[in-house]
Amino acid sequence: MKDFISLHDITSEQLTDLLKLAIKLKSELKQGIPHPILKGKTLGMIFTKSSTRTRISFEVGMTQLGGYPLFLSSNDIQLGRGETIYDTAKVMERYLDGIMIRTYAHSDVLDLAKYANIPIINALTDLLHPCQVLADLLTAYEHKGRLENLKMAYIGDGNNMAHSIMYGTAKAGMNCAIATPENYRCNDEVVQNAKDDFKKSGKSLVITTDPIEAIKDADIVYTDTWVSMGMESEKQERIKSFDGYQVNGALMKHAKPDAIFMHCLPAYRGFEVTEDVIDGPQSVIFDEAENRLHAQKAVMATLMK
Ligand code: CP
Ligand code: NVA
Repeated sequence: MKDFISLHDITSEQLTDLLKLAIKLKSELKQGIPHPILKGKTLGMIFTKSSTRTRISFEVGMTQLGGYPLFLSSNDIQLGRGETIYDTAKVMERYLDGIMIRTYAHSDVLDLAKYANIPIINALTDLLHPCQVLADLLTAYEHKGRLENLKMAYIGDGNNMAHSIMYGTAKAGMNCAIATPENYRCNDEVVQNAKDDFKKSGKSLVITTDPIEAIKDADIVYTDTWVSMGMESEKQERIKSFDGYQVNGALMKHAKPDAIFMHCLPAYRGFEVTEDVIDGPQSVIFDEAENRLHAQKAVMATLMK
């Protein structure tokens, strides 16, 4: 594994290894056992979009691994003024031991990985958010004691979260159901790749426009904002289009009684989810946020040591 860009690219065994390492690092941290696996290494962190969880968890995680995290806002580096991905990659590989990037175009991350001879970690693109789903799988495992055969239902926008959930649940041996409005369906190529992955795993992938069909008997219910970063101008139109796709108490009744509720955050209460659900007893949102730290430390330790 050179890079961590998509859960579609990793094997089920690699996923299991990452989760096992995350559990070990989390346990060591809680016991105060230091693990300076990346002593002397530097991670460049390129952001062309905002972040709370991703920036903090990568910075803190790199520090806990004994390395140095270098925050690089695209406003401050020449990439933001039109320097090419190629030149950026060739320069950065001379200084850094790995790069974490959050940006718009997924192809920019693929190009960076192609040109830079150092590990590249995808910290969110318009297409995928694999670091979040790795943390979510860790969270589901902690709450349910297993992943195999669990059903995850995602209700909302067919966005980067929906895509990475399909890829991640397939590799984890889970079942998955995605409900989106007709005009906000998932990317065709991602759906085709996911279908191939589910065919291999023998588990079920349901893609529908019916939230009740998707959530039926789910062990995990997931939603995300209806207005992702970069789509702010579509806000009013989207709020109208997603009517009927809110995760609320009535919809949650169709999931298993012991279902957990997940959201990658940031959340917009009263839109994609109601307060009673996100702030209620089934919600594990802050465990997911914490697990970003442990899961990404496993990724960095695996790629950069
Ligand atoms: N979930 C997530 O990636 O959060 P941030 O945008 O705050 O990093
Ligand atoms: N779909 C959201 C996820 C934020 C973590 C976005 O891309 O803005």
